[in-house]
Amino acid sequence: MANYEDVFKKVVAHAKEYGFVFQSSEIYDGLAAAYDYGPNGVELKNNIKNYWWKSMVNMHENIVGLDASIFMHPTTWKASGHVDAFNDPLIDNKDSKKRYRADVLIEDHIAKIEAKIEKDVTKAAKRFGDAFNKEEFVTTNGRILDRQKQIDAINEKMNTSLSSGDLEGVKTLIEQLDIKCPVSGTNNWTDVRQFNLMFKTQMGATADGSSDLYLRPETAQGIFVNFLNVQKTARMKIPFGIAQIGKAFRNEIVARQFIFRMREFEQMEMQFFVRPGEEMKWYEYWKDFRMKWHQALGMGEENYRFHDHENLAHYANAATDIEFKFPFGFKELEGIHSRTDFDLKAHQEHSGKKLQYFDPELGESYVPYVVETSIGLDRMFLTVLSHSFREEKLENGESRVVLKIPAFLAPIKAAILPLTKKDGMPEKAREVMKMLQLDFNCQYEEKDSIGKRYRRQDAIGTPFCITIDHQTLEDNTVTIRDRDTMKQERVTVDKLHAIIAEKVNIAKYLES
Ligand code: GAP
Repeated sequence: MANYEDVFKKVVAHAKEYGFVFQSSEIYDGLAAAYDYGPNGVELKNNIKNYWWKSMVNMHENIVGLDASIFMHPTTWKASGHVDAFNDPLIDNKDSKKRYRADVLIEDHIAKIEAKIEKDVTKAAKRFGDAFNKEEFVTTNGRILDRQKQIDAINEKMNTSLSSGDLEGVKTLIEQLDIKCPVSGTNNWTDVRQFNLMFKTQMGATADGSSDLYLRPETAQGIFVNFLNVQKTARMKIPFGIAQIGKAFRNEIVARQFIFRMREFEQMEMQFFVRPGEEMKWYEYWKDFRMKWHQALGMGEENYRFHDHENLAHYANAATDIEFKFPFGFKELEGIHSRTDFDLKAHQEHSGKKLQYFDPELGESYVPYVVETSIGLDRMFLTVLSHSFREEKLENGESRVVLKIPAFLAPIKAAILPLTKKDGMPEKAREVMKMLQLDFNCQYEEKDSIGKRYRRQDAIGTPFCITIDHQTLEDNTVTIRDRDTMKQERVTVDKLHAIIAEKVNIAKYLES
């Protein structure tokens, strides 16, 4: 088994064991692709939301928030194009009866060729040592150039077929590449069909008086239909943005990789309304801004890359993904899309209401263009969790599992630990807890040996452990242990607030 699979399995097991993520309805054997966030998970999720909201809304005078309902008038989804075009190409293997996304089968095939390139590069780097120049190697080595050519040709065929709706072409490509079902090992495929990803439900008590509704597949449409409400009441001038965080639902054909692809998930989206003709300038601005937001977390610049779309969604004239190197490879974390005036124009036509902006500087009205940033909260959660998971061998021969989560995102900021349960230590510890808990999420723990308690806090990523011991009762000092270095320092109780505040300060992440 490849090592990354081992690591990923460990991350998933860790998420459950330490109260981050549970399978939904687990006592009934779970529901595929639905997950519940436990006590530590919900804290981490809230901290990520806060980081996004502060950066996008609080730090931008021209961006305001919204919390639109999940249920929307059904015409919304006709206008947005989701009823007709929000489809994935689906294919079944006749022997295993397993269902796949046809484009994902092809992408997985490409990923295998990419892995071979990666292997060649690693081998060459070892062989040439310090003299190795990766850029030169990948642009001149014959075998790598051949492999890259193969990838480009497959991508081109797939994109041409998908964008022209040529499903037969997609099937032919799968057959030409001799892609086999991972379960049955055969290439006995059905035809490729389109599958709409929206969940349908009914509103109303009686069958004949009810109307069909969809669970929103993106939060963005709640923003578009409220464009004028927000612009007028918040007195916004173009360019301006509307941001929201909320649930979205997609009936994914193949939901896999834990919380990476779910059927119910959460998005953090911002629609930025601009003058027609200025959208590419803003598209570049938001690409740069969002990449910096990710990189500020210090999870390695080399773990992010842009992936420009060739096969554009029905509403976009330019689109890129910010990809992150998950344990299972580089995958989409966030999308940045230039959505033109497609959505507002479509809602204008279907509702019969004008959705225009009078630009006082130009002295004219127009339907604004839109640049969107859209990130999955659950995927962001997975980047933080998987990147911060470490198994460390210690100098004394023991080992520990530690989550090296950026301190300001950690679920618990400080653990307050009386060394023993007697001699007034618990009472003193509660006093310290009371002093800190108003500003920081703290946890009081008195059970088990101090070593075991340190390990438990390491495993959930708590940046500080504060131990109250005999000396505390004499001179009001405690030991404060750093999660990453495991070093302990003795400080007076009145210094604790400042030490924690400095470490978990969100400001330095927002300034960069
Ligand atoms: N409003 C645009 C939009 O929804 P998208 O690329 O389909 O664009 C945006 O989705 C982001 O939502 C993705 O980059 C991803 O992070 C997240 N996302 C999409 N489908 C998801 C799923 N099934 N499970 C978890 N996150 C998902």
